[in-house]
Amino acid sequence: MRGPILTLTLLMAACSEPRPSGPGACPSWQREVAAALAPCAECHGGATPAVGYDLTTYLGALGPGSDDTANAIAGDASSRLLSAIDPAAPAAGAAHAGQGALHALLARWALDCELTYLDSSIHPAGVLDPASAGFHGIELRDRGWDLGLCAGCHGADFGGGAADASCTSCHARGPDACDTCHDGVPTTGAHGAHVGVGSAGLACVTCHRVPQSWDDEGHIRRAGAGDPPPAEVEMTGLAELTVDAADRAGPPVFEAGTCRNVYCHGDVLGAAGGAARQPSWASDPPGPASCASCHGAPPPSHADDHCSVCHPSGAAAGAAHLDGVTDVGTGGSGCSACHGGADSPAPPRDLSGNVFTTAIGVGAHQAHLRAPAGLSAPIACGSCHQVPVVVTSAGHLDGVGPAEVNAALGWDRGPGTCATAWCHGTAQPRWTFTGEAACGTCHAVPPSGAPHTAAMALTDCATCHPATMDAIGRFIPGGAHLDGDVDAP
Ligand code: HEC
Ligand code: HEC
Ligand code: HEC
Ligand code: HEC
Ligand code: HEC
Ligand code: HEC
Ligand code: HEC
Ligand code: HEC
Ligand code: HEC
Ligand code: HEC
Ligand code: HEC
Repeated sequence: MRGPILTLTLLMAACSEPRPSGPGACPSWQREVAAALAPCAECHGGATPAVGYDLTTYLGALGPGSDDTANAIAGDASSRLLSAIDPAAPAAGAAHAGQGALHALLARWALDCELTYLDSSIHPAGVLDPASAGFHGIELRDRGWDLGLCAGCHGADFGGGAADASCTSCHARGPDACDTCHDGVPTTGAHGAHVGVGSAGLACVTCHRVPQSWDDEGHIRRAGAGDPPPAEVEMTGLAELTVDAADRAGPPVFEAGTCRNVYCHGDVLGAAGGAARQPSWASDPPGPASCASCHGAPPPSHADDHCSVCHPSGAAAGAAHLDGVTDVGTGGSGCSACHGGADSPAPPRDLSGNVFTTAIGVGAHQAHLRAPAGLSAPIACGSCHQVPVVVTSAGHLDGVGPAEVNAALGWDRGPGTCATAWCHGTAQPRWTFTGEAACGTCHAVPPSGAPHTAAMALTDCATCHPATMDAIGRFIPGGAHLDGDVDAP
């Protein structure tokens, strides 16, 4: 290889000097090689070059063809570009035979002259060979990404300048465009798992300060010099979320290859945190992390693991997960989030989403709560259940059903009946049936035995039960029927 680029002062002076040439000089792509390969373009050129090998451009000639191996490698005598036209053993096809002179030229070019791109007193032979230590991208990196240095000769807009050699002939948007150096999402570490995966993909700005321009302070230049690796990681947004200050040890940080104090990974969820809440960036296993890595599945405070009953819009449904809010229930707020509807937390809907009275979770709730036939005043939840004050009240979320029914009612889930309730007397109407609590099912009308007589009509009842019945045989709205106390003279 030729020497590295000289000092800047020398470079500036050399800007317009004539190029070296002459009998002993190295052949270069620009001067001899491109012209010598021109006849090959008949097949190795155009839109579909033979075996994908394009000999019309420098980078094409150096690149691969039928496989992934570069066809021209500086110093490598076994390079395909040489062997294919080796007079002793040319590749198949008449065009490859009898190319002794070309072979000699290319051998000198590749083996002695580092695949020189152009004759230059300024740049090394491999200035355009990505495999060379003299490649301009590597040169630039070693010089602290000082694009200004290049602009001095190649023009402030990199359009050619005094050097009369344009960067934009290859870097169409300019060598200072983001995609010159960043080819899409980095493939290093866990970038792939975080960025651009579905709608949940994280933007670069979640973990990095994203520059507006290549020369923003702290990107690749800092205080007038190159900013050495590694890249700065500054986590913002969700990573910074605090649920309970006591559970946050500090701001989110990336240290020693590991993320710590990051909300997303459950490192600030306290006891609910999972088994891998300080994940390693490099050894992130492929595929989605297991549920128990960020939080318990379920967290230890939980009595049950049927997540979707209480978290129907969470991970199971693919929505609203890891959005900074613990979603409990859906379809309404407060007590109706997991069961009940807009007006009341009582079923329907039940915990499984059922709305018909034939489902045991729904049953005769509304018949009791609204008492539409006026048999009694509406019956509150507390008559049949222990009612939680808040969702997390003890005894409430101790399972996902069946719900506890007050023991005094003698609830028998099999047949769906109550045994010991005052209300139904000895009758045992079934919870999931209708029409089993008509007049006459709880007590006879009129009851047998004095002072009642079989001849008594409904219109007679008011005589002795005036707080219950009116004179035309109807219940008095808000009256004393089924209030737990016989209203009698
Ligand atoms: C008439 C069409 C034609 C011309 C002209 C031609 N080639 Fe080829 N070249 C081919 C074909 C076809 C192959 C694939 C041969 C094979 O796989 O056996 C090939 C293969 C090659 C390969 C191997 C590439 C690889 O990646 O496998 C090299 C190198 C090559 N040619 C160089 C040249 C050079 C140098 C010239 C000019 C002197 C030239 N060819 C002229 C058709 C041509
Ligand atoms: C002192 C002036 C000068 C400086 C500084 C300079 N170049 Fe050049 N560069 C040239 C000249 C002149 C050419 C044309 C070939 C020649 O005459 O050497 C050239 C050619 C090139 C080429 C080949 C392009 C082509 O199409 O021919 C590349 C690539 C290149 N320079 C990259 C860079 C990079 C990257 C930097 C900054 C690190 C840089 N140059 C700094 C003067 C300079
Ligand atoms: C003949 C084509 C060509 C010209 C002209 C050219 N480049 Fe490049 N440049 C390349 C190629 C090819 C790469 C490597 C791309 C890759 O690795 O994917 C590259 C890479 C780069 C990179 C990225 C380095 C990295 O490691 O990410 C920078 C910066 C760059 N060139 C700057 C310049 C500048 C400045 C000029 C003009 C002075 C210039 N280039 C002229 C072809 C060219
Ligand atoms: C979830 C956090 C996260 C996101 C999102 C993220 N990065 Fe990174 N990035 C990192 C970490 C961690 C490193 C490694 C830093 C180290 O090695 O010290 C890194 C390193 C880098 C590096 C240095 C080279 C490398 O590949 O290691 C670049 C460049 C980079 N990121 C660019 C980006 C860009 C561009 C985006 C958006 C497309 C992005 N990052 C999104 C966390 C992230
Ligand atoms: C000349 C090459 C080059 C250009 C142009 C460039 N970057 Fe970078 N960028 C890098 C390198 C190299 C790193 C790694 C820096 C380190 O290791 O400290 C980097 C790092 C980053 C990072 C990680 C955070 C950091 O500062 O370390 C982000 C994000 C990023 N670049 C975005 C961009 C965006 C957006 C643009 C366009 C406005 C851009 N880059 C233009 C070379 C470049
Ligand atoms: C019986 C209802 C119920 C079930 C079933 C349930 N959760 Fe929860 N979960 C809750 C409630 C209520 C909260 C909110 C607790 C609070 O505010 O203190 C919660 C909170 C959470 C939190 C936030 C951290 C915390 O403890 O506050 C996570 C994570 C969570 N649940 C995961 C799960 C997973 C995973 C499952 C299934 C394996 C599950 N839950 C099953 C009711 C339930
Ligand atoms: C990368 C970390 C991470 C992984 C992996 C993860 N979770 Fe979570 N999960 C969280 C965080 C953080 C919360 C706290 C609430 C929020 O921000 O949405 C949460 C909350 C929940 C909740 C409560 C409801 C909600 O969405 O708020 C459920 C249920 C849940 N996760 C289930 C799962 C299941 C099931 C899996 C596996 C398929 C899983 N999680 C994997 C981080 C994770
Ligand atoms: C007349 C008695 C009674 C009243 C009043 C009553 N419930 Fe129930 N509730 C039951 C019975 C019986 C079940 C079924 C228990 C079983 O499945 O074993 C039940 C079940 C439930 C269930 C579980 C549903 C399921 O899917 O398993 C919830 C939730 C519930 N009731 C809430 C309420 C609320 C809230 C109120 C007041 C607004 C209320 N109940 C009023 C008797 C009643
Ligand atoms: C996170 C979902 C969820 C929310 C929100 C919720 N419940 Fe429940 N509720 C349940 C589950 C699950 C059961 C069944 C518990 C069991 O198996 O005992 C239940 C059962 C009940 C029962 C029957 C008695 C029992 O404990 O089994 C009543 C009454 C009740 N809830 C009232 C309420 C009230 C009042 C609120 C508002 C303070 C409320 N619920 C909010 C999930 C929820
Ligand atoms: C002549 C007065 C009188 C009339 C009329 C009367 N009741 Fe009664 N009823 C009573 C008395 C007194 C008691 C209380 C008996 C006791 O405490 O043993 C009673 C008790 C009841 C009870 C409570 C259960 C029981 O057997 O003790 C029911 C039910 C009842 N009456 C229904 C009716 C109906 C229905 C009518 C109209 C068809 C009616 N009564 C008409 C006097 C009357
Ligand atoms: C769900 C069971 C049930 C049904 C159905 C029922 N009753 Fe009663 N009734 C009772 C109970 C229990 C009492 C005992 C007193 C009390 O708790 O108010 C009673 C008491 C009465 C009394 C006595 C006055 C009083 O209020 O104590 C009258 C009158 C009465 N019922 C009339 C009727 C009539 C008329 C019908 C049909 C339209 C009817 N009942 C249907 C359960 C029922």
